[in-house]
Amino acid sequence: MPDRVKRVGILTGGGDCPGLNAVVRAITKSLIHFDDIQVIGFEDGFLGLLEKRYRLLDWDAVSGILQQGGTILGSSNKANPFNHGVERNGEIVYIDYSDQAIDFCRELGIDALICIGGDGTMAIAKKLMNKGLPIVGVPKTIDNDLFGTDVTFGYDTAVSIAAEAIDRIHTTAQSHHRVMLVEIMGRYAGWLTLGAGLAGGADVILIPEIEYDVDVIAERVLERSRKGRRFSIVAVSEGAKPKGGELTVQRIIEDSPDKLRLGGISMKLCSQIEDITGLESRATILGHLQRGGTPTAFDRILGTRYGVAAAEMVRNEQFGYMAALRGNKVSAVSIDEVGGKTRLVTTDDQLVQAALATGVSLGI
Ligand code: F6P
Repeated sequence: MPDRVKRVGILTGGGDCPGLNAVVRAITKSLIHFDDIQVIGFEDGFLGLLEKRYRLLDWDAVSGILQQGGTILGSSNKANPFNHGVERNGEIVYIDYSDQAIDFCRELGIDALICIGGDGTMAIAKKLMNKGLPIVGVPKTIDNDLFGTDVTFGYDTAVSIAAEAIDRIHTTAQSHHRVMLVEIMGRYAGWLTLGAGLAGGADVILIPEIEYDVDVIAERVLERSRKGRRFSIVAVSEGAKPKGGELTVQRIIEDSPDKLRLGGISMKLCSQIEDITGLESRATILGHLQRGGTPTAFDRILGTRYGVAAAEMVRNEQFGYMAALRGNKVSAVSIDEVGGKTRLVTTDDQLVQAALATGVSLGI
């Protein structure tokens, strides 16, 4: 362990999300301001570490980025030092480059590596840490499914974007008396759909954790129609599936830690609902719109708080921990405990109960 931390590396891993730049800025400014610690930013997540691409982050480099979406460092949701794909004789082979990655950090004189990412990034961070690299984690993902923290930054922005989309869909649904389905990201967790569905006043909310029955959905839509409500809004998670059915996979990315990319369930459901009810239906897939653009004030503040907390952990040499929001307090949780685990919606969650209490159908 160093006498005093002098040089720190940062990387942003996995899918990007609004608020990443707030974290990079807060870590860098806080470390420079208090201790004159040098900050190195690796480009494109773990890929930069493997390909030796990095740059010095000084005060100027992180000025004016608070309100910018994406990440100034770039990201990769494929790179994994423990399973890195390289071409050998025209074929892709997967090699464990973790020792080389750790050696490179040492070569650069890096005393700690701050990994900003979701469950995949934390799982890699945990393995690097177990091989002796001092790590601090910061939780990120629009899916809000990271174990150990109440909220990840990026979630609030994505929920706001999806809720606004539902608002817009509402007016056209009303005009044309249609059933409108809005497909929302979130992978295997329903937080994003549940939040946006509640905020947007969806009539039906379908999440991966609760398998739906299409006849129940159709009956709800018909019931509304009988009562003179001539349109319905269905908020559906990309990971939603029918009872006993399968996920709808849009593509498979072989060299990604989670190979499945979901998408298209709303299209399938749209024609099923139309067939059963005879009501004209349309589907909209929000896709990456939900990850783009400027972060909300909430995410800028949360990102800044996480960044400051991560810098504090580095300063105190409290390695192996991740910044987490518990209640209204940012504290440190052990990466060993959280790395690689996801937090899913449970049926007793207050959001689920609020949906049911306000007459929303969950498709069951
Ligand atoms: O984890 C964030 C997320 O946006 C998920 O909600 C979505 O399923 C996935 O990433 C999309 O990944 P990609 O950007 O590789 O298409």
